Amino acid sequence: MTQDKLKAAVLISGTGSNLKALINAISSGDLELDIVKVISNRGHAPGLAHAKSAAIPVSVISQADFPDRQSHDAAIAEVLLQDQAELIILAGYMRILGEEFTHKFRGQIINLHPSLLPLYKGLDTYRRVLEAGDVETGASIHFVTAGLDSGPVISQIRIPVLPDDDTASLSARLGPQEHKLVVATVGLFCKRQIQYEQDEVSYLGQVIDRPLLLKDDGRFV
Ligand code: GRF
Repeated sequence: MTQDKLKAAVLISGTGSNLKALINAISSGDLELDIVKVISNRGHAPGLAHAKSAAIPVSVISQADFPDRQSHDAAIAEVLLQDQAELIILAGYMRILGEEFTHKFRGQIINLHPSLLPLYKGLDTYRRVLEAGDVETGASIHFVTAGLDSGPVISQIRIPVLPDDDTASLSARLGPQEHKLVVATVGLFCKRQIQYEQDEVSYLGQVIDRPLLLKDDGRFV
């Protein structure tokens, strides 16, 4: 029996290259996902063009139009409920979602972050990696809970930091790897293989004690 396609909403604020990677994977038949809505908090987010050219409905919900975070979050929640989004993918969504929102959608929101969490939560991750002299960095996808970049980590991809790297070269090399990670991880959700269980990640019915690591051959270990 074939499963219904997972319905997802993607929240963006900027370039939307990860959104584009998801759209490409859907078009090439690699991802059985239905992106029911792209939501941006910025009307001029370049990523909105990717949604429009793929005929995905878009909502711009700007914080400038609301008196506080709670009412802004509530407007986003209303759209998500109307669209019956089962998975909420934060892909470069640069605004913190409040506790009420993260509680309401607990286990349904995932975020892509450019570091090996729990290292380097927050902004400016490449600079901090270089300043620390780390020899490796990467990207993580985690369930979103109330704390910033703090929810249980589902998956990661790793890259080496090279001696000549600067923030631009690191971000240029990590970008395509993030795209692979988001497509592969959302693929696990599409197959209903990942669940959120009492602040832990379960994969194929088993709670995992470390994030799934995406290897070059496209498999998780
Ligand atoms: C990515 O680096 C992601 O890790 C971070 O924001 C960036 C989004 O890039 N959360 P894009 O808008 O998908 O191109």
